[in-house]
Amino acid sequence: METLGLPPHRYPTVVHSTAVVDPSCTLGHGTVLMPMVCVLPGVTIGDHVIVRPHTMMAVDVTVRDYGTIAAQVFLGRCAVVEQDAYVGAGAKVREYASVGPGAVVGMGSLVLGRVPGGQVWAGNPIRRLALASPLTARGRT
Ligand SMILES: CC(C)(COP(=O)(O)OP(=O)(O)OC[C@H]1O[C@@H](n2cnc3c(N)ncnc32)[C@H](O)[C@@H]1OP(=O)(O)O)[C@@H](O)C(=O)NCCC(=O)NCCS
Repeated sequence: METLGLPPHRYPTVVHSTAVVDPSCTLGHGTVLMPMVCVLPGVTIGDHVIVRPHTMMAVDVTVRDYGTIAAQVFLGRCAVVEQDAYVGAGAKVREYASVGPGAVVGMGSLVLGRVPGGQVWAGNPIRRLALASPLTARGRT
C-alpha cells in the first residue's frame, strides 16, 4: 500500500453475496471473501487477505494482513494466522493454534499447535518441510 501511495480506503473490501459474515467481525481494506465463506462472531481479518471458497472461521479467529486462506480451510476458535502466512486447501487449525508470520501450511494439514514463522509445515501429523523462501520459484497457488 505504501509503495503505490494510495490511502487505505482506496482498496475495496469485497465479500461475495453467498459469504456469511457476522456483523461483529472486522474486515480490513483490500480483503476478499470468496463464495460460501463463513465467518463467525468476533473474527478479525486484516488488510489484503484473501479467503477462498468454503472456508470456515470460528469465533474470535484472527487473520493478519496479507494472509492467504485457501479453499475449504477450517480455523478453530481463537486460532491466529499471522501476517503473510498461507494456509493450504482443506487444512484444519485447532482452536487456539497459530500459524506464524510468512509460514506455509500444506493442503490437508492438521495444525494442533504453533507453526513457526517462515517455515513450511504439512501433513497429519504435521511436520516441517523446509524454509518458505525456496517456494517462490514455483509460486504459491
Ligand atoms: C506444502 C507445499 C507448499 C509443499 O510444496 P513443495 O515444497 O513443492 O513440496 P514437495 O511436493 O516437493 O514435497 C516435499 C515433501 O513434502 C510432502 N508433502 C508436500 N505437500 C504435502 C501435504 N500437503 N501434506 C503432506 N505432505 C506433503 C511430499 O510428499 C514430500 O514428501 P517426501 O519428501 O517424504 O517425499 C505444497 O505441497 C502444498 O500443500 N501447497 C498448497 C496447495 C494448495 O493449498 N492449493 C490450494 C489453492 S486454492
